[in-house]
Amino acid sequence: MTKKRILSGMRPTGKLHLGHLVGALANWTKLQDEYDCFFMVADWHALMSEYANPDLLKANMLDNVIDWLSCGVDPEKSTIFIQSQVPEHLELYFILSLITPLGLLERCPTYKEQLRQVANRDLSTYAFLGYPVLQAADILLYKADSVPVGEDQLPHLELTRQIVRKFNHLYKTTCFVEPRALLTQTTRLLGLDSRKMSKSYNNYIALTDTPEVILKKVQGMFTDPERIRVTDCGHPDKCSVSSYYAAFSPQLKNQIHQRCEKAMIGCTECKKELAAMLINLLAPIQERRQVLQKDKKQIVEILSAGRQKASLLAKKTILEVRGLLKI
Ligand code: TRP
Ligand code: SF4
Repeated sequence: MTKKRILSGMRPTGKLHLGHLVGALANWTKLQDEYDCFFMVADWHALMSEYANPDLLKANMLDNVIDWLSCGVDPEKSTIFIQSQVPEHLELYFILSLITPLGLLERCPTYKEQLRQVANRDLSTYAFLGYPVLQAADILLYKADSVPVGEDQLPHLELTRQIVRKFNHLYKTTCFVEPRALLTQTTRLLGLDSRKMSKSYNNYIALTDTPEVILKKVQGMFTDPERIRVTDCGHPDKCSVSSYYAAFSPQLKNQIHQRCEKAMIGCTECKKELAAMLINLLAPIQERRQVLQKDKKQIVEILSAGRQKASLLAKKTILEVRGLLKI
């Protein structure tokens, strides 16, 4: 039986951090045996907001792929490629934009939120409005059955499904299937300051952070604000340290919760244990990274093989779609 196909992507806008590991990469590596996986560096998507800083993206692309590989994404099992190297993404983006109602894009919650939140870049561009249409093109080009995403991406998947229905109806075809979301089942990792972990808040632990840096960052993490003395009973649910235990060691988390609530462990000790755990977790990943970093040629070869595999499917889909549109 042929495996079902998955496609997912990541924008190369910065260094990868623990949030990416828990939110995406751990899941990607798990899915590799069961599915035919396509993992993509979404550089066009990144350019939609970072069009003024192309240098930044260039530096991050290979670096991110090295992180993917270090975390266990396996080029023998999965197709790893760069979006802009397969030009059919843009072709399908345009074709889908022919039939995408403007109102759906303007009402998209992620669009409205980004326009509000991102103050230091001008996102009121023609292309940025079409962000979810390009994402739909990414998914449909490979006829992916499922898309592993975080909850924040669900509106984009819903839009993709609407586009599929309209396309199939208009052109009386079953060319595309509505993709399913594969929600990542993890506790959301908070940033060091208890806000969402994000590059723009500079509140993350990078996959490349050294043990010294990890220890320092963990020591500076926000904890339960009501716990002032060691003898005060803690509220681990209000503490980002405990969200890390939950994400990386559910067993330890239960222990920590009990000890915290009964004031049997102090925050200093609790953080020291967490730092040790994270350092241990990242050590093998960083070791693999050291090796991969020395062989950039190998990474370029992996991406070139990925591009060839991706192109084959992409070309086939575009041919079919052009036929339906009589062009
Ligand atoms: N928009 C996604 C994000 O910011 C990245 C992405 C681009 C993507 N194309 C995709 C994710 C296709 C899943 C499928 O996380
Ligand atoms: Fe947070 Fe640990 Fe302190 Fe409890 S003991 S408040 S879980 S750091």
